[in-house]
Amino acid sequence: QRMRNYRECRSDIDKLNTPFLEIYESLVPPEEEKAKQRHLIASLEKLVNSEWPGAQLYLYGSCANSFGVSKSDIDVCLAIEEPDINKKELIEKLAEIFEANNLENVKALTRARVPIVKLMDPESGISCDICVNNVLAVINTKLLRDYAQIDGRLRQLAFLVKHWAKSRGVNETYRGTLSSYAYVLMCIHFLQRRRPAILPCLQEMEPTYIVNVDDIQCAFFDKVENLRDFGAGNNESIAYLLWAFFDYWAHRHDYANSVISVRTGSIISKRAKDWTRRIGNDRHLICIEDPFETSHDLGRIVDKFTIKTLLEEFDRAADVMQYDPDPCVTLFEPY
Ligand code: GTP
Ligand code: MG
Repeated sequence: QRMRNYRECRSDIDKLNTPFLEIYESLVPPEEEKAKQRHLIASLEKLVNSEWPGAQLYLYGSCANSFGVSKSDIDVCLAIEEPDINKKELIEKLAEIFEANNLENVKALTRARVPIVKLMDPESGISCDICVNNVLAVINTKLLRDYAQIDGRLRQLAFLVKHWAKSRGVNETYRGTLSSYAYVLMCIHFLQRRRPAILPCLQEMEPTYIVNVDDIQCAFFDKVENLRDFGAGNNESIAYLLWAFFDYWAHRHDYANSVISVRTGSIISKRAKDWTRRIGNDRHLICIEDPFETSHDLGRIVDKFTIKTLLEEFDRAADVMQYDPDPCVTLFEPY
């Protein structure tokens, strides 16, 4: 019933390009912010090395995948090779070290699904979350960053979609809406499916990067500097793509049967993944396959109430893009 008649995009869509690009530019973090982040990581690594000499800190998440807006918190992963580590004790020990070295708001969250220590650096004002040995997150960060280098429209689209999702309150996993990571995957999938395609499927190409994490093989083509012209055959503008993105999620996606899959660059069926019914707390009402943990549906936290909220917001956004006299303002109005 949600599949409406296909509609055509408004004829003046390309007039919206410049104002949308200005919003994008205003969200991009300045270089000095990146420098501050690197400086903080280096000094935290020194502290950590006083206790564990071989340990290393990696940035992951939006500060490293190139989809981070200015002033976001940073996600850090501690990579440590030690047999039989007890993550909970390690996190507590880390918290002690940071506390003793003048970092503020230090908190060890040992009972979360992914245990972390939180802290704030008073010198730079940067807050960060540090987890332990979350190798897959570091690898999916690289995958996203590599995709971003292929065609500039991905980064523009994802920034605008994330900005919309934050403004409209639908980027809150603890309340049953989607993570930023999920929205970026939705954008990548969407650009893989344009005709002509704007993005390739890196995991279907001859792999040049292969890492095994437990029983998962992560393999993809990562010589993306060779793919800079990939999307050149498609000249769709960012305003048009934003319109088409919301139109897709509001009117065209088949929520009952489809799983979007960046791994294959295509849609796969819920039946093939056995995601047709609720299992435990996973409801599979909107299905987004993780590119490496393929049994992992990033839409699993969406429930029968929040799916309605999401659909209403996609609908509203599609309508705003289609009819509103000033979509660059209305789209991002606080809810
Ligand atoms: P913002 O902080 O909102 O700007 O975006 P972010 O990309 O940092 O997202 P978030 O803080 O939600 O997640 C940080 C990183 O953790 C993501 O970029 C992923 O690398 C990873 N991540 C988040 N959720 C999942 C998940 O469900 N599965 C896996 N494998 N990784 C995840
Ligand atoms: Mg983050």
